[in-house]
Amino acid sequence: MRRAVWAGVLLVLTACTAPDRPGPAPTPVTPLPISWTPAGGSATVTLDASRPFLQFAPAIDPSEWAGVSQGRELFVAQWQPAPGPRALLDGLGPQFLTGACSGCHQSTGRAEALGPGGRTLPAVLFRLGDAQGEPHPVYGEQLQTAATTGDPEGQVTWTRQPDGRLNYQVQVSGDPLDGVRASARLSPQLLGMGLLDRVPEADLLAWADELDRDRDGISGRPHWVTEEGQVKLGRFGWKAIQASLRSQSAAALHQDMGLTTSLHPAENCTVRQAVCAEAVSGGQPEVSDAALEAINDFLTVLAVPERRMGDPATFNAGAALFEQVGCSSCHRSTLTTGVSSRFAALSHQTFYPYTDLLLHDLGPALDDGAAEKGAQSGEWRTPPLWGAGLVEASGGRFLHDGRASTLAEAVTWHGGEAERARERFGALQAIERAALLHFLRGL
Ligand code: HEC
Ligand code: HEC
Repeated sequence: MRRAVWAGVLLVLTACTAPDRPGPAPTPVTPLPISWTPAGGSATVTLDASRPFLQFAPAIDPSEWAGVSQGRELFVAQWQPAPGPRALLDGLGPQFLTGACSGCHQSTGRAEALGPGGRTLPAVLFRLGDAQGEPHPVYGEQLQTAATTGDPEGQVTWTRQPDGRLNYQVQVSGDPLDGVRASARLSPQLLGMGLLDRVPEADLLAWADELDRDRDGISGRPHWVTEEGQVKLGRFGWKAIQASLRSQSAAALHQDMGLTTSLHPAENCTVRQAVCAEAVSGGQPEVSDAALEAINDFLTVLAVPERRMGDPATFNAGAALFEQVGCSSCHRSTLTTGVSSRFAALSHQTFYPYTDLLLHDLGPALDDGAAEKGAQSGEWRTPPLWGAGLVEASGGRFLHDGRASTLAEAVTWHGGEAERARERFGALQAIERAALLHFLRGL
């Protein structure tokens, strides 16, 4: 019997069996015995089921804790409008969504997005863009649903269509949205961020196949974004618009909480928002470089909970089916970090997030008409699947706008480049589909 040592080897062993077009359901596979290495390399942590996310990587040297714990404090802090009781934590708004990072990113998974009475909660936010990716002239690139002074830009309510699909209705307080679309974005669970941050660009580019030269129907492409004057590979967010945790954090402070940094020194007001522009500032910038670094350190050392394999034979059968069906053409099992100059323990780690961090066209059902930077409206970054089972168990929702309430339902919305994988998934026998889902839930 062949023995695969780690998931990457499994990929080599089974890739040749993947059919290149939907055919009859794959025959049941004999699971290969796999000895899995830890899901997050040195960042793997024992699962704490009551709060599986926002844990620290255990391998971090205690001498490196100072920034991490300050970053944690800033992440969970409730920021206040200026002038506030603590200068360090003031400057919230004037336009914002909620006052704490942890208000949207919880240690239990994805925060509730659909509130009672049809009101949306801050954990689903709305990016604004037209088909060319241009933001709204008055409201800018994101709809702000709270304000410390003046009216918020708008409110969003939700209803469910007869087919179960979610509908969001945006009510703006002033100028109409016109041709600009509001693109719903669910707050993702945060784990293993420092590992994803440190994967060399070349490794990810090796998977890009923009013109689909190998004609497998899958043409992932990098989202090139300009960050502090340099063109880099975008990797964070549903459309991969941020290339690093540093820029992601600065953008979150600016767009989600109305806090300025050296990366975004001006308040989050457009030229047509006079009340916003005149609001009291909490300092210039409101969040110092040292505080931004601390938040960055905290995100960088976020751990990955260990796998929950349950019955190993079923788990391994699910892993093999995941490859056979073609899910792994985008949800890549194995990545490796380069060098982390900040945290040596995160260097050269092999880990299993199930993403290629590239953009894929997922077809018309997931196309919401709003392009963003270089990403088309139907293009989305492959989201990592680690921790997804824990999100499902805690009642969290899936896909960029939260329309799916289970992992299986998320697959049914896949189209475009993922059409064939979805068809093959649908053609599996019930017992095979159950094994594949068992595997997904254990990642
Ligand atoms: C109002 C809700 C909200 C708040 C507050 C918020 N975030 Fe987020 N966060 C999101 C959403 C939504 C996304 C996905 C954004 C997108 O796709 O455009 C995201 C994405 C991220 C990501 C990238 C995750 C990934 O898998 O790509 C990181 C890291 C992150 N946020 C950190 C932070 C930090 C640090 C703060 C506080 C400074 C913060 N967030 C505040 C909602 C929020
Ligand atoms: C062509 C690339 C591609 C293939 C093939 C693919 N996916 Fe995806 N998957 C994506 C992208 C991109 C998204 C995000 C789409 C969105 O949010 O609109 C996604 C989202 C998901 C989600 C929801 C994740 C979340 O965080 O909400 C799950 C679960 C998932 N895929 C599982 C699968 C499974 C299982 C298969 C195989 C049957 C598969 N995918 C095949 C690209 C792909």
